[in-house]
Amino acid sequence: MSDSLTRAAFLQKTSLASAALLLSSIELFAKEEEKIIRVAIIGCGSVSNRYIVHLQSSPLVKIVSLCDIKQDRAEAQNKKYNIGASTYNHIDALLKGNAFDLMLTLTDMQMHGALNKIALGAGKNVWSEKPLANTYAEGKALVDYAKLKGVRIWGAPAVVTSPQFEFMSKTIQAGKLGKLASAHGQYGHTGPTWSSFFYEPLGGSMPDLGVYNMATLTGLLGPAKSVMAMTSIVNKEREIDEKGIVQVKEEDNAHILLEHDNGVISHIMCGFNYFDPFGHEAKNQTLHSIQIFGDKGNMRLIGYDWEPKNVVLDNSWTEPPQVHQTDDGGYQWQEGATRIAGALSKNIEPRINVLHSLHVLEIIEAARKSSKEGMKVKLVSSFPFPMV
Ligand SMILES: NC(=O)c1ccc[n+]([C@@H]2O[C@H](COP(=O)([O-])OP(=O)(O)OC[C@H]3O[C@@H](n4cnc5c(N)ncnc54)[C@H](O)[C@@H]3O)[C@@H](O)[C@H]2O)c1
Repeated sequence: MSDSLTRAAFLQKTSLASAALLLSSIELFAKEEEKIIRVAIIGCGSVSNRYIVHLQSSPLVKIVSLCDIKQDRAEAQNKKYNIGASTYNHIDALLKGNAFDLMLTLTDMQMHGALNKIALGAGKNVWSEKPLANTYAEGKALVDYAKLKGVRIWGAPAVVTSPQFEFMSKTIQAGKLGKLASAHGQYGHTGPTWSSFFYEPLGGSMPDLGVYNMATLTGLLGPAKSVMAMTSIVNKEREIDEKGIVQVKEEDNAHILLEHDNGVISHIMCGFNYFDPFGHEAKNQTLHSIQIFGDKGNMRLIGYDWEPKNVVLDNSWTEPPQVHQTDDGGYQWQEGATRIAGALSKNIEPRINVLHSLHVLEIIEAARKSSKEGMKVKLVSSFPFPMV
């Protein structure tokens, strides 16, 4: 039903008073259409603290279940945030328990693909922390499986929903930078200490950190056609809280070159050995982390793409660079799942696109292959572009 058609037709025939009555009933109808989305969270570690608070800020979300193989963590979060959910220690129990609409996968990265598959198989929609699977083939199979099951899957990060991303995309699309040539993104800190999976096979700094820049730069410049990369392990050992020394088995340092259409080349560097006093808690960063160059202008994103502050646009020979988009519009990096719940509730298509997440996953895998074999790797995946 279209509000505007109904209003127009009605206003022609009735008094303003009864129109007001009808309008309020239409609004009620619209609100009734917004279904409450029942959310189950699997993985109740560090990042769940950020997700839970954000989800609780939405009237469209009800967290009904919490699951962790360490069930005491699920119970502790239930209590800490006064959620009133049921708690479980295994995905099978979670699926047999309270009914829900959307599962949030917030576990160790290596578990995402398997858990997402089980949830899709049970007819659940999924929001997955990055990466949504460990390989491109596994991720593509998940997307196909979701279609077969009549449900949806989406993956973090949510960088494309920030107003700064939107500003940069529109500026590029309006031709204000002229012909694009080059871009750079960087993100690093000195590495997580709370869990060892970051350093185990299929962990690494690319799926944990580089993934943000990959999503931003492909989102702004378009899908990449090929990848060349060098990755390394700088620190062979790490000390992990409550675990002690572990061996580092996946890259903690990576440089990735992406070839986009029309000769555009971008570069990303990410790692777990980058001294940056604002690295993980990024609020006060005043330097840029993303830059884009064209032949008529350049742009710098101040802050991080996941925690942006503003955008500096320099496209005049005579005027100083201008600061744009200082308003964050309420954007928070942990908002992805809340946005997806909202989209499910209102039956609208979100900007976050799983084909984009899959493309980023293919880039990560290709970068590892390129580094190992010393060669350029062609990509097969793509996504609808421009995103804004
Ligand atoms: N911590 C952050 O600030 C942050 C920020 C953005 C994204 N992420 C992403 O979030 C994910 C989780 O990271 P984290 O830092 O919260 O890790 P974490 O180690 O703090 O939490 C992971 C939790 O998952 C649980 N778990 C593991 N396997 C499970 C299984 N099979 N079933 C149920 N529970 C299981 C663990 O017991 C643990 O409690 C990762 O993909 C990470 O890249 C983390």
